[in-house]
Amino acid sequence: MKKEINKGLRGVIAGATAISTIGKTSQVLNYRGYSIDDFAQQASFEEVAYLLLHEKLPTTAQLNKYKNRLRGFRNLSKAMLQILEDIPANAHPMDVMRTACSVLGCMEPETDFSKQDEVAERLLAAMPACMLYWYCFSHQGKRISLLSEEDSTAGYILHLISGKQPHELHKRCMDVSLILYAEHEFNASTFACRVCAATLSDMYSAVVSGIGTLRGPLHGGANEVAMELIQRFETPEKAVLFVKDMLEKKQLIMGFGHAIYKHSDPRNKHVKEWSKRLSALAGNETLYQVSEAIEELLRNEKNLFPNLDFYSASCYHFMGIPKKLFTPLFVCSRVAGWCAHIKEQRADNRLIRPTAKYIGPTPRPFVPITARGN
Ligand SMILES: CC(C)(COP(=O)(O)OP(=O)(O)OC[C@H]1O[C@@H](n2cnc3c(N)ncnc32)[C@H](O)[C@@H]1OP(=O)(O)O)[C@@H](O)C(=O)NCCC(=O)NCCS
Repeated sequence: MKKEINKGLRGVIAGATAISTIGKTSQVLNYRGYSIDDFAQQASFEEVAYLLLHEKLPTTAQLNKYKNRLRGFRNLSKAMLQILEDIPANAHPMDVMRTACSVLGCMEPETDFSKQDEVAERLLAAMPACMLYWYCFSHQGKRISLLSEEDSTAGYILHLISGKQPHELHKRCMDVSLILYAEHEFNASTFACRVCAATLSDMYSAVVSGIGTLRGPLHGGANEVAMELIQRFETPEKAVLFVKDMLEKKQLIMGFGHAIYKHSDPRNKHVKEWSKRLSALAGNETLYQVSEAIEELLRNEKNLFPNLDFYSASCYHFMGIPKKLFTPLFVCSRVAGWCAHIKEQRADNRLIRPTAKYIGPTPRPFVPITARGN
């Protein structure tokens, strides 16, 4: 059999999953058979997290119980708060997330896989708390309370960031964003989680692998760079001139293109609509108009389309989210998908161990150190 290398494992079926499916030709995304379009219109992040982790949609009673459990997991130990206070303001926020997850794994280790649902709930509730406690302490000198009347993850995040009751539209936009970022089949970070889980390691270690993988600009960091780009311009015309020049220099435009989708990203229409809505609410349409002009240019010049990250950047901006927290927010959502994949991997496990084509030297005699010269 001819063995070809498939660089980046594109098109390789590396395992089976019942958690989500990406329409390779029809540009759809379903979580356990349900369209993200329905979730973006009618569901909450907690409903989606429950579905991903427990394989079925919750009833009202189950959802209320689940939300209450998550609320109960928000607080952090004194030792964790101290560690977060010791991390400097100039640390990379994704390093903070990775460290916080690792610390949780030390303090509350997963000693037994029968507790895996509880660990997933703890991570869902604690990751936003860790992110915002560190940010407010190191950047604003404030020791914020991690308790909140907000019963949704979206409301909790927005409340902790601003210290105020969030605007209803902001809350819904954040909820939709968390839903859309929650799961995406065998993307790089999820695959990293599964590789780690397949060694029968603990859930925290597997999620740490995911966070480290998500940190890179080709995966999770794209929305921050997209924000830096769209913020530079006062008018769509200036944006077009600048981005044209970037394309001529063969530079990547972050927030465009996708490894699997080839014509459009099914998540984009939802965030784009929200970006438009929030820009009207803010009475400032420039960012939206600049974004649209860049979208049109890339479609015409390169046949490229915006992925979830592009319009998420302006949505986050309008909700008052500091740019540094864009990628950590991705963690707060994707941890639902990661933990679902870790559970699925464990349920039908085999060590993930591919092979490599050797391209190094042919066998050669060893040279003792004394014979190697200076
Ligand atoms: C996501 C990404 C890594 C997919 O990479 P990929 O599968 O290797 O993409 P493709 O090979 O199909 O790209 C085809 C061509 O389009 C170009 N291209 C792809 N994305 C581009 C972008 N965002 N800006 C400019 N050119 C881009 C590639 O350079 C390539 O050009 P070439 O044929 O001249 O070499 C890539 O699109 C990218 O780097 N996007 C920016 C980062 C980003 O937004 N990441 C978040 C993903 S959800």
